[in-house]
Amino acid sequence: MAEVIIENLHVSRAGKEILHGVDLIVKRGEVVALMGPNGSGKSTLAETLMGHPECLITSGRIIIDGTDITLSTPDKRAKAGLFLSLQNPPEIPGLTLAEFLRAAYNEIHEEQISARDFRRLLTEKAAALHMSTDLLARGLNQGFSGGERKKSEILQLMILSPKYAVLDETDSGLDVDALRVVGEGINTLRSAPTASLSILVITHQRKLLEYLKPDQVIIMSAGQIIRTGGSKLAQEIEEKGYNF
Ligand SMILES: Nc1ncnc2c1ncn2[C@@H]1O[C@H](COP(=O)(O)OP(=O)(O)O)[C@@H](O)[C@H]1O
Ligand SMILES: [Mg+2]
Repeated sequence: MAEVIIENLHVSRAGKEILHGVDLIVKRGEVVALMGPNGSGKSTLAETLMGHPECLITSGRIIIDGTDITLSTPDKRAKAGLFLSLQNPPEIPGLTLAEFLRAAYNEIHEEQISARDFRRLLTEKAAALHMSTDLLARGLNQGFSGGERKKSEILQLMILSPKYAVLDETDSGLDVDALRVVGEGINTLRSAPTASLSILVITHQRKLLEYLKPDQVIIMSAGQIIRTGGSKLAQEIEEKGYNF
């Protein structure tokens, strides 16, 4: 029961079918790497999981820990334990990172956290990431460097502690430092004694997979999963490309 089940998912966007029957199971605690050429539908799958209004599910279903969320709104999905990181997170002038995180926290928790308690939680987590507290008071993502955006994303994971995270890192051009932030940050999260975080990570970067050591590697092409394997598959793709 503790898993995300994606069953025969068909998804259309702007009147055109993009996903043609995707089946995938992500178990609790697993890291699954989703790879595939540009335009194969990886981001569409990620966005469909979070209930993006443009992604119309025409058949199939998505089940989280036994609950069918195929037709649920994004906030219900977040409450069920899903977390989606965006490839291009929005800059929101006037809303600070700290305010955003507290709003997101209160959105998914029954008990509302006081500003004071939240500030304490945030300071503790930011310190663990060696993150400057200046960033917390800055407008969300305003003038954040690539590495700072990544740190704020990992901070978000730490604060919200979702069960399932979908990280769409494709095309984000992470430099080596940002890769380390993401890789080590996620590993810290996963190694916590109470952790049972599962991750579906979309990436072309082998280096990131060296940090994350995926349990499954899944290759998508033209809206379908064409191969599944272990870490060796990522290596094979680096050597031979996506021409099977
Ligand atoms: N907003 C959109 N409207 C219409 N088509 C889209 C939109 N976003 C993506 N697509 C199409 O969906 C297909 C899959 O794209 P995408 O999911 O972004 O692939 P990937 O993340 O694997 O590069 C492509 O053909 C792309 O043109
Ligand atoms: Mg993409």
